[in-house]
Amino acid sequence: MDVLTAYRPAFLENVPVSIQVIAFGAIAISAYIAYSLLTIERPLKGFPVVALTERGLSPKWSWYSAGTETVAKGLKEHNAPFQVITGTGPKIILPNRFADELRAREELNFPKAFEKEFFVNYPGFDGHRQGLIDDWFIQEITRVKLTQSLNLITHDLVDETTAAVHDVFGEDTEWHTAALKDNVAEMVARLSSRVFLGLPLCRNRRWLDIAKDYTIDSFIGSQLMRIAPPILRPVSYWLIPNCTRLRKQVRDARKLIMPEVERRKERAQKALEAGQKPPKTADTIGWMYEVGRGRQVDYVAAQLSLSLAAIHTTTESTAQALIDICRFPEVVQPMREEIIQVISENGWTKASLQKLRLMDSFLKESQRFTPMSTLSMNRYVEKELELSDRTVLPVGSRFLVAAAFQDPSMYDEPEKFKAFRFSDKRQEPGQANAWGHVTTNSSHLGFGHGQHACPGRFFASNEIKVILCHLLLKYDFDLVDGEVPPTINFEVNKSISPKSKVSLRRRKEEIVLDLESPS
Ligand code: HEM
Ligand SMILES: *[C@@H]1O[C@H](CO)[C@@H](O)[C@H](O)[C@H]1NC(C)=O
Ligand SMILES: *[C@@H]1O[C@H](CO)[C@@H](O)[C@H](O)[C@H]1NC(C)=O
Ligand SMILES: *[C@@H]1O[C@H](CO)[C@@H](O)[C@H](O)[C@H]1NC(C)=O
Repeated sequence: MDVLTAYRPAFLENVPVSIQVIAFGAIAISAYIAYSLLTIERPLKGFPVVALTERGLSPKWSWYSAGTETVAKGLKEHNAPFQVITGTGPKIILPNRFADELRAREELNFPKAFEKEFFVNYPGFDGHRQGLIDDWFIQEITRVKLTQSLNLITHDLVDETTAAVHDVFGEDTEWHTAALKDNVAEMVARLSSRVFLGLPLCRNRRWLDIAKDYTIDSFIGSQLMRIAPPILRPVSYWLIPNCTRLRKQVRDARKLIMPEVERRKERAQKALEAGQKPPKTADTIGWMYEVGRGRQVDYVAAQLSLSLAAIHTTTESTAQALIDICRFPEVVQPMREEIIQVISENGWTKASLQKLRLMDSFLKESQRFTPMSTLSMNRYVEKELELSDRTVLPVGSRFLVAAAFQDPSMYDEPEKFKAFRFSDKRQEPGQANAWGHVTTNSSHLGFGHGQHACPGRFFASNEIKVILCHLLLKYDFDLVDGEVPPTINFEVNKSISPKSKVSLRRRKEEIVLDLESPS
């Protein structure tokens, strides 16, 4: 007897199986239609819906498969607020001129803009839930503790870079090819984890894999869930392999991180009992303990939340910088000369990283030229808000602001890669601080803008600079077969293909970059 027959109610025994199947199908379909009608996210009133209808795309599919072009079409046709229909409902797109007035409006909420995107109530999305429950916690860890410690952690960054670069790209002095994305991700995961968790966890294989994969699995898992019709989401969640991976990552992260947290609490307790000060640590476990001020802290969710914000973004930016070094090789010599001069004169300090003006400009131009996203400033409207053009953003709506990376009124010859356009601008009177890598401006939304602009950007910028100093002096890089690695595009996002490769060979660095006594 098969399973179906075993569980078939008695009254169905005389009804042919084919009829049963059809009847069941009809009931399921009607239930689905009824449910969809009740829960469908209708377009907002008063904002034109933009889609590439001329290509036969529905609004939802237009956003999903060609988000960047859909937005470009809306901006061109309306030059005013309009809406797109995403897998989780409508979103308003605002032209760039609204960026400044929305910097610090108290009607807005940042984490709520992501609530529907990541299915925070499902197990595995713990990192996303952390941000939503307690947004200020990670903000305070990052903006206050991490940023204030940049001087203290510069040596750790250099130490970890020395070891990671050697492990990842090796010592081969002949030209050879290597994976680009995964190797950069490995370096970034090690450097970030050195500062987030300290030694020895930052070199733990399982943790590094979690740090690298958690973000991507959650992007893919939630994206597959967004495509599925809402009624099927509870089912699809259990079938999507990336959601299964998320649950395992959270379990394993707990096993790795909690013993370390306990060890440190004990150590601090013992010191206090002996009448001494608890040992100071330059990593986020200690900061979380302090910032928590005696409250219950979910250290694991908080670490995953940090990884979510930090690893993928920094990996993309660093990998893109390497691609640009290959595409525009004329930038290499000036940047090498700058590194040699600054580091040999000043050694490794926070201040020396600030003196790398050419590299700073190059990184900002790299972000401008190939942005990760053409939209920024994701926000949720908590209280009705009127814009300067009298447009009213309704309660419960979500919006994004268009970037202006290609705007010719902001950028001279925007279609050209000009590595040192920002360092040139900084030499104009009164502009010394206006165009730094970490300075946000409505014309450069690479780190967002306003109250919720990326609080990790000071750290990220320093981390990428330390990596680039080592890579530029220790290696020559080139494109493989002269080809720019392909990108993967979805919605408005662009990401370098995980299959991308780079050509490289070890060269002799002109000055000693490594610390004298590495750990
Ligand atoms: C190059 C690397 C990075 C890029 C391009 C980047 C970009 C961004 C952007 C665009 C936002 C949204 C800002 C807005 O909407 O106004 C953001 C937010 C955030 N980023 Fe970054 N980020 C990077 C690295 C990091 C790192 C290393 C950390 C942590 C150490 C971090 C922590 C955060 C946090 C916590 C938020 C949320 C801010 C809030 O809740 O108000 N980011 N980032
Ligand atoms: C998503 O899950 C599949 C199946 O386990 C896996 O092969 C793939 O690498 C995952 N994607 C990412 C980016 O982790
Ligand atoms: C896609 O871009 C949006 C808008 O900038 C951003 O909020 C979101 O985190 C990005 N998603 C991915 C997967 O990079
Ligand atoms: C953006 O840059 C322009 C040009 O330097 C400057 O006038 C403006 O004040 C900046 N905006 C912000 C918000 O800093």
